[in-house]
Amino acid sequence: MNAIEITGLSFSYPLANRPALQEINLSVKPGEWVSVVGANGAGKSTLAQVIRGLVPHFSKGDLSGRVLVNGRDLATLSVGEITADVGYVFQNPFTQLTGVATTVYAELSYGLGNMGVPPVEIRRRVDAMLESTKLTKLAARNPFELSGGQQQRVALAAILVMEQPILVIDEPTSQLDPETTNAMFELLAAAHSAGRTVVLIEHKMEQVAQFSERVIMLHDGRLVLEGTPEQVFTDPQCESYGVRLPESLYLQRALEQRGVLLPDKALSVNNLVMQLVKLGMHPRTAKSEPAQDDVPVIHPERFSTTQPVTPALLEIDRVTFSYPNGVEAIHEVSLNLRAGESVAIIGQNGAGKTTLAKLVNALLRPSSGEVRINGQSTAKWTAAETARRVGYVFQNPDDQIFNKSVYAEVEYAPKRWGLSEAEVRRRVVDALHLTGLTGSQNLNPYDLPLSVRKFVTIASTIALDTDMVIFDEPTAGQDLRGLNRLITILRELAARGKTVITITHDMEFVSQNFSRTVVMTDRQIIADTPTEETFYLNEVLAKAMLDQPAFPELTRNFFSNDIGLSMNALASAVVEQLGR
Ligand SMILES: Nc1ncnc2c1ncn2[C@@H]1O[C@H](COP(=O)(O)OP(=O)(O)OP(=O)(O)O)[C@@H](O)[C@H]1O
Ligand SMILES: [Mg+2]
Repeated sequence: MNAIEITGLSFSYPLANRPALQEINLSVKPGEWVSVVGANGAGKSTLAQVIRGLVPHFSKGDLSGRVLVNGRDLATLSVGEITADVGYVFQNPFTQLTGVATTVYAELSYGLGNMGVPPVEIRRRVDAMLESTKLTKLAARNPFELSGGQQQRVALAAILVMEQPILVIDEPTSQLDPETTNAMFELLAAAHSAGRTVVLIEHKMEQVAQFSERVIMLHDGRLVLEGTPEQVFTDPQCESYGVRLPESLYLQRALEQRGVLLPDKALSVNNLVMQLVKLGMHPRTAKSEPAQDDVPVIHPERFSTTQPVTPALLEIDRVTFSYPNGVEAIHEVSLNLRAGESVAIIGQNGAGKTTLAKLVNALLRPSSGEVRINGQSTAKWTAAETARRVGYVFQNPDDQIFNKSVYAEVEYAPKRWGLSEAEVRRRVVDALHLTGLTGSQNLNPYDLPLSVRKFVTIASTIALDTDMVIFDEPTAGQDLRGLNRLITILRELAARGKTVITITHDMEFVSQNFSRTVVMTDRQIIADTPTEETFYLNEVLAKAMLDQPAFPELTRNFFSNDIGLSMNALASAVVEQLGR
């Protein structure tokens, strides 16, 4: 008997102009790991919700076809009955939180209690899960007073602890720092080895390639590709469905274009390295630098030597901040940004990135220290006054959106500011155009996928036309098109002279699109350097739970000199070492 058996499944949301899923046939064997990939809007989350029974039980619509889970027809079961078989991790962790548990511990116990598990057993399992998800220290904290990534870890733990035989998991690591991402994948791998069935929706293709037995590609609601990771990622059609490939395949392609041909397709950087060694490349023996006790802090002054000196637009001056629950989230942080500058902020979950962003736009006020914009302290400004100078795109779009149409959402603030009708219209049209939402302006934001809701909040922030914009995790859950659109938006804002801070966990995105990167960990900034240096600062990366993007990871295996982040430099170095 198959764990999941789907035949002829089609589903349409009410009022939608095309079905979200069309004629899907899919069998998943017990203990199999199937990953579902595809562009935003392809139908992945809807498919997950069908298997969990939330569609059509909660999200109404028109469903045809048959879905069997462990041999039972979902049409005959209640959502509660399906719970025994299927554990479901929501795409947006915030949506998943029970809302009744006031501690992380209670959040993890909640489902087990409902399932009638004896208290002693609950304690044993919750303690073990807190340990393996590194949440023990946060056990007594309120789940709603955590960083986005901490919350996502709680959401995953709360499902894993229930030990259902089938796991349906929607982008479980979209907001996690790279090292925690790896740790969570190891945890899923352990559940899988223990015999549990995994259906994973994921944009992180390195992990999809590494862990899945089978990959299915959805496109416009149809299942268009199916096979092993290698079969799917090397299919000539794969890229046309709008997904990113594992980074190593792009590197391999760049090498091929320069005449370095490898025998096999490299689905991981490790594999690419192995193949290059076979071709005659010499791996470095001493791969790691001697450990240093202190992480070097590279001060922003370094910048003034390479960049033209212009007055700072933003000055964060020795700011410290504690939340009302006593958690100190920012400790003596200083940071300067020149007008028109674009920087990335990266760093481990809970480092204080979001808190810092909120201090800059006065959603929070420093406990000590000062934030200055154009030389003026923001202490005397109201949050509304600050909002005229700094636009902030929230980490969770659902914290920001409150209007019933995309258009209303984007025009809300400019209209309230009393700008002329023509000016409001001009700004809204411009923002919708930049974010690709022109055709969606009449839709209710809540009917749009999470990835698109993020662009709705980006549009409403662009419409503010502030000197400075802060994006909090805009890359989370975005497909290739979404990432490219973000790049376009960043370039356009730069062209308009805006000062932009982008907070993200996507190391590839940072390495390719920013010239300056700030690294935070444990309430502080620990590095602030040109990006081409950032990803070679081993100790800094380790301390901030970051990893190297594919590029420096590959170069580090062969070259002692950091050769930056340019594909050309790497390719020529390889060609030279191979003596071709
Ligand atoms: N509303 C809140 N109340 C109390 N403490 C909070 C609140 N929000 C965050 N914290 C705590 O403050 C610290 C910094 O959190 P912050 O959200 O700034 O981290 P972050 O770097 O943005 O993390 P992530 O990458 O997970 O988004 C963490 O220890 C977190 O648990
Ligand atoms: Mg955050």
